Amino acid sequence: MKAIVYTRYGPPDVLQLIEVEKPTPKENEVLVEVHAASANAYDWHLLSADIFLVRLMGGGLLKPKNTILGADIAGRIEAVGRNIKQFRPGDEVFGDISACGNGGFAEYVSVTESALALKPDNLSFEEAAAVPMAAVTALQGLRDQGQIQPGQKVLINGASGGVGTFAVQIAKSFGAEVTAVCSTRNLDNARSLGADHVIDYTKEDFTQNGQQYDLILAVNGYHPISAYKRALTPKGIYVMAGGSTAQNFQAMLLGPLMSMSGDKKMGGVTGRPSQKDLVIIKEFLEAGKVVPVIDKRYPLSETAEALRYLGEGHAQGKVVITV
Ligand SMILES: NC(=O)c1ccc[n+]([C@@H]2O[C@H](COP(=O)([O-])OP(=O)(O)OC[C@H]3O[C@@H](n4cnc5c(N)ncnc54)[C@H](OP(=O)(O)O)[C@@H]3O)[C@@H](O)[C@H]2O)c1
Repeated sequence: MKAIVYTRYGPPDVLQLIEVEKPTPKENEVLVEVHAASANAYDWHLLSADIFLVRLMGGGLLKPKNTILGADIAGRIEAVGRNIKQFRPGDEVFGDISACGNGGFAEYVSVTESALALKPDNLSFEEAAAVPMAAVTALQGLRDQGQIQPGQKVLINGASGGVGTFAVQIAKSFGAEVTAVCSTRNLDNARSLGADHVIDYTKEDFTQNGQQYDLILAVNGYHPISAYKRALTPKGIYVMAGGSTAQNFQAMLLGPLMSMSGDKKMGGVTGRPSQKDLVIIKEFLEAGKVVPVIDKRYPLSETAEALRYLGEGHAQGKVVITV
């Protein structure tokens, strides 16, 4: 089968389209014929090892441990192992396979069934592949760490990328009053996804305008954690999902300390693949409450281009790879 393979960390140029052996599913695995995959910042970090922690956290110290990237997939089950209960050959599925060692940038991949759910009927493979990691991270950040409640004022900083476009829609589905922070060219998109208010970060700093929010999900950009705290209501919650390295470290190291005094909670979310949450997202998708936003589509042979584009940090929604 064809696959995009890398054997050393580096820029997207290290990715090669080559023929590799088609995987055979083990007893507890299904073989998926991949129809589409999507790119995430997660793939970029595993490709470039730009954060050294990636190597220590199982990416491989000197060279990549898993040589085929791609966490988000949608495709059709071709074969199932003996112990598989949930799926049959022919089922159309989607999922985040990062807990199975990735491998979505290929024609086939073998994964455990818990990584997958049936593809929503109303979505194409490309649309479905755009969903799992970004949407589940947004859901877990808002619902679990963020304790989102109907009627709350919720701000999404970085509302125009992969995670942000889902976060706006999911927060609306929970009945929140949503403020989306993005740049000028994305304001209309944010409104069309349901944002009640939009703030153009190139013109206004939301941490300085005196407004306060019950929940802030920080997905992109950077503000000091003290500024986020100032923009929270007295019992407000700050959840860092991504953004600059400084933003990440401040949430991890200072967040717990700052949460010890007063009622505000400062922390972060690490999205975990969850079949249960993927099914919740599937229901949102089928009900039309959440719609994937696809910026660009690339064929498998141009996966390097797709990751280069994503790495520039200005995708408007998701970047999809058609296999
Ligand atoms: N915690 C987790 O488990 C988890 C899971 C998935 C992703 N993440 C992290 O979440 C972050 C976002 O991921 P993503 O997939 O959404 O990335 P993405 O799709 O690459 O985000 C691109 C978007 O960010 C916007 N942006 C750039 N600078 C901004 C700024 N200063 N303020 C507001 N928006 C800005 C861009 O809009 P403009 O071009 O208009 O600036 C663009 O639309 C990454 O850091 C990623 O590592 C974390």
